[in-house]
Amino acid sequence: MAQISLEKIVKRYGTVETIHGVDLEIGNGEFVAFVGPSGCGKSTMLRMIAGLEDITGGRLKIGDALVNDVEPRGRDVAMVFQDYALYPHMTVGQNIGFGLKMRGEKPEVIREKVAEAAGILQLTDLLDRRPGQLSGGQRQRVAMGRAIVRKPKVFLFDEPLSNLDAKLRVEMRTQIKRLHRMLRTTTIYVTHDQVEAMTLADRVVVLRKGEIVQHGRPLELYERPNCRFVAEFIGSPQMNILPGEVIAGDRGPALSFAGGVIALDHITAARGTKVDIGLRPEHLLLSLPHEADFSVEVDVLEELGSDTVAICMLGGREITMRMGAGDALDLPKVIHLRFDRKKLHVFDAQSGARIEFTA
Ligand SMILES: Nc1ncnc2c1ncn2[C@@H]1O[C@H](COP(=O)(O)OP(=O)(O)O)[C@@H](O)[C@H]1O
Ligand SMILES: [Mg+2]
Repeated sequence: MAQISLEKIVKRYGTVETIHGVDLEIGNGEFVAFVGPSGCGKSTMLRMIAGLEDITGGRLKIGDALVNDVEPRGRDVAMVFQDYALYPHMTVGQNIGFGLKMRGEKPEVIREKVAEAAGILQLTDLLDRRPGQLSGGQRQRVAMGRAIVRKPKVFLFDEPLSNLDAKLRVEMRTQIKRLHRMLRTTTIYVTHDQVEAMTLADRVVVLRKGEIVQHGRPLELYERPNCRFVAEFIGSPQMNILPGEVIAGDRGPALSFAGGVIALDHITAARGTKVDIGLRPEHLLLSLPHEADFSVEVDVLEELGSDTVAICMLGGREITMRMGAGDALDLPKVIHLRFDRKKLHVFDAQSGARIEFTA
């Protein structure tokens, strides 16, 4: 196992800079997810750590060694990709053991290690099959088997589940989580899927345009996003955003939005500041008209069984709320909503930065 240290990591292709000086420390045995929209630099980061891509600037350490100029095979990392790149003419067992064979391991050692990996990944009965005779999920497990037999210091995953259907993706997620619990190998997992990142990782690193915008435990990001981008990226259904303004209230600062005024004790933004108010769908509660913060028109109901998502209209704007399945029965066209003041998120409308307040 090993810790990984990124210091001011930069990547340039010719004159175009795509990674702009990333600093990050990853602990020994930690499971970290890199998440962000397509093109934000996740794969580039991972490939630089793997040694598949030159590092233009900065320092990369794995364990105590500076590895900027170390060949991929000298870094003792194993990478699993979205397309598994299995050898079609080899059996599952041969595919898993191929790296060991190339390293010149003895056949009996290879057999033992392959058997161990196959056991962990529930591939024991499939060792004599060829990749063409396997399902997508089984192929992905073979690709993981190939990585784990090498007992690397670090696992690197680049969107390994993207080609699988939704059900299998969830199953494989659980498998990867179990695998990490068992092996405790330092892991970096790249995905554009925030649910995957949130459910798998000890720590989620949100990337945007070649920079880290925030990193933290999944719930830290969910409960205290440091900017509007993270707030909207993390959580499903997405956080509602409403335009508002900091105003002078009767007895102190206040927020004006959605046709109402919310009194505050304190806010770290001047009066007149234009803000974006964030409210998560599950923090909007059905209420009686006289206790409501605002009223909305129900447009579409998505009944998920366990709960119901209501997409409503407030003026011309969509507001999504989540309620218990039972609460959605016989819902009138116009419903009244309230929210706990403490659940509000406030962002500067211009910069998107989080603004702190007490209410
Ligand atoms: N070989 C390359 N030459 C030039 N630009 C590249 C190359 N590879 C990736 N990029 C650019 O770097 C940025 C990050 O790409 P990538 O790391 O693949 O994003 P992600 O994996 O987050 O979708 C993108 O803007 C992409 O166009
Ligand atoms: Mg990618």
